[in-house]
Amino acid sequence: MNKLGMISATALLVSATGAWADEVSLVCSAQPEWCEMMVAAFEAENPDTDVLMVRKSTGETLAQIRAEAGNPKIDVWWGGTGDPHLIAAEEGLTQASGVDTSELLGWSQNMAEISQGRAIGIYAGALGIAYNTETLAGRDIAAPECWADLEDPRFAGEIQVANPNSSGTAYTELATFVQLFGEDEAMKKLAAIGANINSYTKSGSAPSRAAARGETGVSIGFMHDMVNLASQGFPLAVVAPCEGTGYEVGAVSVIEGARNFEGAKAWVEFALRADIQSKAQDVGQFQVPSNSNAQVAPESPDLASIKLIDYDFATYGSSETRSRLLARWDAEVGDPNPQQ
Ligand code: F6P
Repeated sequence: MNKLGMISATALLVSATGAWADEVSLVCSAQPEWCEMMVAAFEAENPDTDVLMVRKSTGETLAQIRAEAGNPKIDVWWGGTGDPHLIAAEEGLTQASGVDTSELLGWSQNMAEISQGRAIGIYAGALGIAYNTETLAGRDIAAPECWADLEDPRFAGEIQVANPNSSGTAYTELATFVQLFGEDEAMKKLAAIGANINSYTKSGSAPSRAAARGETGVSIGFMHDMVNLASQGFPLAVVAPCEGTGYEVGAVSVIEGARNFEGAKAWVEFALRADIQSKAQDVGQFQVPSNSNAQVAPESPDLASIKLIDYDFATYGSSETRSRLLARWDAEVGDPNPQQ
């Protein structure tokens, strides 16, 4: 029998016995080092299982899941901002796994309620601005304190952010501006900031990595990614914008029609455990964990001390809202050089 035949024979045997060993196909929308650590820890606990993992940004993953509807290649989607997870749930692209959520904090339970158990919150983090202290000082540019500062011509060519079509981080920024300023004003402000943008990246954390290396003066992204880079010694200062800011609830979802439902469910249970969530800080991931018994890293931005908006996940995590806002962003802000 060839190798393919052996694999499918094994899969048949496995499903006949109800066990879920062998392969779990995972898309990970968190940082690669966290994805790899999670896979290694899961495989260490489940030595008969291979986790086949690919790292993709949140919007890109939603596009893949939509394209594969009815014949999914993915079993479970872990990490990435919650809005596209909620949209996948609304579109019937994910399914409830029925795991125990009793240890999870309110914002995580809220995501499960909105999605009828299909998307479960795994971490939270606030959106902010970072700047390279050496770059701005070297060019005699005053540091930003507010979103409005980013419209100032002093930042011409100095700002980097991701494209909201591919990146959940940048979609969170778009939805945050709409919630702070109203839809028309938000588009005007994003277009004005757009005049100062040197590049729209695919992934949400790339702009802060570029700012850390001095390749751009300023970035927009999640504060926990900025703190991670600052803790590695990069000259990066983190700003909570004066007008207030939005936040993400990162999520985990099991794909509808998953070939290995039991394996996917085991991953979800694993990812919600306090001891597993507490390991994130070992690889520099400083989101706030959703399990109430998990350890919060001392480096984690304190969400209670940041002026957070009451982010409306039900509205901004709906298919209709995201499609409308992205169409407006493409038409009124736009990326002159979209990355493939
Ligand atoms: O780097 C980690 C992270 O900021 C997560 O907190 C977030 O869910 C994810 O990246 C979003 O990535 P992207 O913007 O590339 O979809």
